[in-house]
Amino acid sequence: MKKLYFGTNLKMYKNVADTVSYLTALDKAASDLDRSELELFVIPSFTSLESASSCIDQSRITLGAQNMCWKEQGQYTGEISPLMLDELGIHFIMAGHSERRHIFLETDLQENQKIRCALGHGFRALLCVGETQAEKGYGISDEILRIQLKVGLNDISSDEASRIMVAYEPVWAIGENGLPASPAYAKARHRTIRQCLIHQFGSAGEDIPLLYGGSVNHENAADMIADPSIDGLFVGRSAWQAESFNSLIRTAITARQNHTP
Ligand code: PGA
Repeated sequence: MKKLYFGTNLKMYKNVADTVSYLTALDKAASDLDRSELELFVIPSFTSLESASSCIDQSRITLGAQNMCWKEQGQYTGEISPLMLDELGIHFIMAGHSERRHIFLETDLQENQKIRCALGHGFRALLCVGETQAEKGYGISDEILRIQLKVGLNDISSDEASRIMVAYEPVWAIGENGLPASPAYAKARHRTIRQCLIHQFGSAGEDIPLLYGGSVNHENAADMIADPSIDGLFVGRSAWQAESFNSLIRTAITARQNHTP
């Protein structure tokens, strides 16, 4: 069976103590899952990263940062550099989450600078892409995804592509007011994204893990992951209790096994 990926972004939730207790519980609950068949990652707040990194063996749960500056140091007030993350044992970053793009007005060009800087420092990087409700309404979802990928992953070599993951997260599906995409809709967008990745990176584009995110829950996780175009799930609210995330992961694994010939 192809490797599956399950991750969560804790956003601006959970303080240090909550993060440590969440990670400890998740690690315990997921202790029997074979990591050669699955990768588990958690992206806590910046202030929790140091404690998270001391309490978790990252061969079991990869830790990531929610954002990163594309410079090593300088006059960039409020930013966190790759050297600072490296010092904490963090070598995986997320760029382009919908909340960074739409609340903090980050651009595709900035996401590209972050991804290139991360890869240049030997990190892995998760690029989030997704269209808004309005863009979906205009029928330009695939065009938007192609732009986000072509600019966001510009100037990255096929060798570096092995350290990239992509999460498709339609903006209209994320958060409390979001409606999950139907599996058929997600599958169609994943097909577009995969074509784009192959166009950019050749055969290396076939292996880039492609996750779906946006209101993933216990009801839809199995249907989403049953489709082989979806390599994993990037989960928000339904993952923020360790036991709930653990049971969602197990539901998804069983669904994939049942659909693997
Ligand atoms: P959600 O969040 O699962 O709560 O919709 C997803 C995300 O923001 O990545």
